[in-house]
Amino acid sequence: MEGSVAIRPDKFGLSDEQALRKHIGFFKTVENIGVGNTYICYGDKGNAAIVFLTDDVFRIKIYQGADVDLSTTVGVLPQVSEVEVKTLENESQFIFATTTIRLIVDKSNCSLSIEDHEGHLIARQNPVGWNARGEHSADYDMPAESHFYGFGEKTGFLDKRGERYTNWNTDVYAPHVPEIEAIYQSIPLLIHMFEERSYGLFLDNPGRSDFDMRSAETTFSISCATGAYDIYFINGPGLKDVVSRYTALTGRIDLPPKWAIGYHQSRYSYMNQQEVLELARTFRTKQIPCDVIYLDIHYMDEYRVFTFDPVRFPDPEGMMEELKSLGIRIIPIVDPGVKKDPKYTVYQEGVRENHFIKKLEGDIFLGEVWPGISAFPDFTEDRTSEWWGEQHRYYTELGIQGIWNDMNEPALFNESKTMDLDAMHGNNGKPQTHEELHNLYGMLMSKATYEGLSRQLDGQRPFVLTRAGYAGIQRYAAVWTGDNRSFWEHMALAMPMVLNMGLSGIPFAGPDIGGFGHNATGELLARWTQMGAFFPYCRNHSAIGTIRQEPWSFGEKTEEIVRNYIGLRYRFMPHLYQLFRGAATDGLPIVRPLLLEYPSDPNVTNLCDQFLLGENILIAPVYRPDTDHRSVYLPAGTWIDYWTGEALVGGRPILAHAPLEIMPMYIRAGAIIAEGPLKQSADDASDESITFHIYGASASTGFESAYTLYEDDGVSFDYRQGGYSELSLNVVGGAGTVEIQWRYNEARGFKPERKLLQFSFRRPDFTVGRVEGLQRLTAEQLVAGAEGWTHNPSTDELLIQVSDQAVGDKLVVSTA
Ligand code: GLC
Repeated sequence: MEGSVAIRPDKFGLSDEQALRKHIGFFKTVENIGVGNTYICYGDKGNAAIVFLTDDVFRIKIYQGADVDLSTTVGVLPQVSEVEVKTLENESQFIFATTTIRLIVDKSNCSLSIEDHEGHLIARQNPVGWNARGEHSADYDMPAESHFYGFGEKTGFLDKRGERYTNWNTDVYAPHVPEIEAIYQSIPLLIHMFEERSYGLFLDNPGRSDFDMRSAETTFSISCATGAYDIYFINGPGLKDVVSRYTALTGRIDLPPKWAIGYHQSRYSYMNQQEVLELARTFRTKQIPCDVIYLDIHYMDEYRVFTFDPVRFPDPEGMMEELKSLGIRIIPIVDPGVKKDPKYTVYQEGVRENHFIKKLEGDIFLGEVWPGISAFPDFTEDRTSEWWGEQHRYYTELGIQGIWNDMNEPALFNESKTMDLDAMHGNNGKPQTHEELHNLYGMLMSKATYEGLSRQLDGQRPFVLTRAGYAGIQRYAAVWTGDNRSFWEHMALAMPMVLNMGLSGIPFAGPDIGGFGHNATGELLARWTQMGAFFPYCRNHSAIGTIRQEPWSFGEKTEEIVRNYIGLRYRFMPHLYQLFRGAATDGLPIVRPLLLEYPSDPNVTNLCDQFLLGENILIAPVYRPDTDHRSVYLPAGTWIDYWTGEALVGGRPILAHAPLEIMPMYIRAGAIIAEGPLKQSADDASDESITFHIYGASASTGFESAYTLYEDDGVSFDYRQGGYSELSLNVVGGAGTVEIQWRYNEARGFKPERKLLQFSFRRPDFTVGRVEGLQRLTAEQLVAGAEGWTHNPSTDELLIQVSDQAVGDKLVVSTA
């Protein structure tokens, strides 16, 4: 039986107030208001402020009324504009030109065209319209061959053509399927690529917004439900240009502590202190590397944040001490809901000092989460963020250096799954409703946490993990992709999700390895760990009531595979750390879709069941059960099979043999990759040696390759004052020799405790005759630490070993 709701008026087209009928209209004048490069275009019914930030980035904000507010959300870093803009006016247009682009504003309706100086149209925005409710929307040209990327954490494939997404941070326990339009994170960034040319549009609006690449044939649209239409145009032309400019705008990661790049083990929940310690000891006795164990909600006293349950965790200090001796850190979960309990000091203080979100009428907003009825700190107030940050002394005084922020969309147990939209945020004196600021809540919580930890850790780098976030979240936290399931489909889904997060400025991301809900199998865990070992964030986590998912839960064969791949991650750690350093300095992702490196290859625009780690390592996980072969697309160039050393010609798909213990991996010929010794935890300083693997080296064909190894202490901020080491390595081959040259940076403010350097050539195209100044030795002699070289005929590997003391040196390998 249907009720009258079946004939609700809104089912029959747009009501008057919903129709987007107002536009700025005819533009009369333009004025440079003398603040940076800010121009106001005055229209009939509204105005547009245009701010040029660089030659390639400008902001356009539509507003009504006399005054323009050019403040931004916390998502955008303060920008200094030094760009020179030339303006020009003719009868029908205002034109703004930088050295790279021309923005043409049509006076009749304020539509925008962006061109390069050759007159190629890059983007076109039709007039922004709005309705009586303040909803804004604009359409943009969408040529037939368009591709779309970015959007942060979304379900679906890599290319978002034909999709529609909503930005509204939402706790989606289930299902993570393609039709879920809103999930935990909201990064309102769209990257449009066509004809190999890319540009980005970033809508700096923390309320609900929609990106629709589905509904119209020749246009896509961007709209927002509340707040201002405040959009940034980010020029390419390369996809890398867009990502790097977007991250210059919203920030880049801080170099994380090295231990945070290690393997993390979690479960909802490790129920008591004994279980945690037993778990840590098992990792060590089984020799499975691990850096972190998580404490999920059961560590707390009835889910009160900043407490330990006195029965389950009677001696946190003792627990921390033993964990420290094992080289394992603890990360406790901290949710935003503070239990309403008049006897609980955090609640008392929050009420007394006015830190909780209230309704306009003055009552504290209360909602239900794990602890029962709870109040929520108002992180839009700096003083509250500081108060929250200070609470973390409870953990940092125990030696804890990392915090896990969850349920920070914020998630509530009610029908809307979040806070009432009319709850009020103080917002440092500029009050706004929750509806207007919703998507900022999680990021502001992580910011408060990160800043609190930074104050407390005495110069050590903090680590924060978050579920919810907004543009710029990368400055404060790594992101995991929430409550996935132990489904093969979700393993596959993690690839495009994490890849698009990387293109959206969030390089430090990963899914729950093995899947959170439902029940993993040994095969799924083995395959997922193989893939997860190469994701920037690497944590195994599973839900209460599901089958156990620790590496040893499925028998010896699975355990062995999981051990080996986690071990491989630790061996790759020097290279991985290097990639994190890169992301911190240039904003480019750590794991990349092939598209980022091969933008002109039409085969890779939507390729997302394989990915690149940095530029040179191609990872092709097996993500189906009972599968021991898979198709791998090798892009142009020569690729070396990591396992066999075989050189393969790229620019074509190949069929890779992948029995359960093998995940196909390929290294680009010409690349150098540093591998370190196997360690049980990342900050174990016993670095005996480092091996530079030189791939595809040739003594005859003008071979050239370079690499920089970045190293620091991995825990402190000393690197900011020069406390780091950079070794530049150059390998040149031709005319019967291969020359290896290396040099440390002069002011080498950090020296690893390392004795040896190794250079490895696998299946080179030459037979070695001699290595100048070094003797041919046996493999055993090298293992014993002698300088020299050896050749292993069964693997066809030339290994050279020298002591690592000088500022640099040179070696010449001559062919036989
Ligand atoms: C949420 C989190 C999950 C966590 C659980 C209990 O579902 O996404 O990771 O284990 O809450 O805290």
